[in-house]
Amino acid sequence: MADGVIARLDDVRLAFGERVVLEHCTLPIVEGAITCIIGLSGAGKSTILRLIDGLTKPDDGHVYVRDRDICHMRETELNDVRRSISLSFQFAALLDSLTLGDNVALPLRENTPMPEAEVRKVVVESLESVGLAYAYDNLPAELSGGMLKRGGFARAIVTSPQLILYDEPTTGLDPISVHLITGMIMRLRERANGTAVVTSHDLPSIYMMADYMAMLFEGAIIAYGPSEEVRRSENPIVQQFLEGSDVGPIPI
Ligand SMILES: Nc1ncnc2c1ncn2[C@@H]1O[C@H](COP(=O)(O)OP(=O)(O)OP(=O)(O)O)[C@@H](O)[C@H]1O
Ligand SMILES: [Mg+2]
Repeated sequence: MADGVIARLDDVRLAFGERVVLEHCTLPIVEGAITCIIGLSGAGKSTILRLIDGLTKPDDGHVYVRDRDICHMRETELNDVRRSISLSFQFAALLDSLTLGDNVALPLRENTPMPEAEVRKVVVESLESVGLAYAYDNLPAELSGGMLKRGGFARAIVTSPQLILYDEPTTGLDPISVHLITGMIMRLRERANGTAVVTSHDLPSIYMMADYMAMLFEGAIIAYGPSEEVRRSENPIVQQFLEGSDVGPIPI
């Protein structure tokens, strides 16, 4: 694998029944950078994150994480790889019956031998980094949508993963929260020198954080590169998408 590439989809094909979602889909994820995946609703963006996290297997092609093909790994090996990756879901999936603090502590309690006093300290740090330390003892039902999302991030980062996958982190939030969360993703990445992959429909937020952009269209990545280059792309599909125009090659 090329230097600086932490994960890679290589010529992936994936179909659900008759519906081919990905075909000839190749995407490198550069280490230490934020890669944003854009594309129409239903294009397969969340599916790409699930492939990188080993939750979904391709019908064909390969998914590499740190030079290792995760598609043909034994369960125990895959679990080891998955411990270095965190997927923050499109809909924050905190458990209703646990406090925010206990939700964030879950990956530490389940996957590490960390002593309880240390767990509490690390959970507080994680909640502080998303501005939610004061809500440690609150139940999810007592939190707003934006707070739930931030709580989901706190849980995603608590194990200090090398690779964080954010699925639509800003969808459904007010513009100020969008700005805050975008800044938070950038800070979290810098602090841990980690790598992030973000799927989003929120162009201002993408332009703010993306080092690399990838556009998914009809199963394949049709444009990929440094954010500035993709924004200037002369590909009419990319242009139409970024302009949000209903006139162009994208079938509406
Ligand atoms: N487990 C599954 N079983 C059947 N079809 C699925 C499954 N998961 C995803 N799909 C289909 O795959 C396609 C891609 O879904 P995906 O959720 O990856 O899209 P997306 O780009 O994330 O869309 P959005 O922007 O709306 O979140 C959709 O047509 C969806 O219905
Ligand atoms: Mg999605």
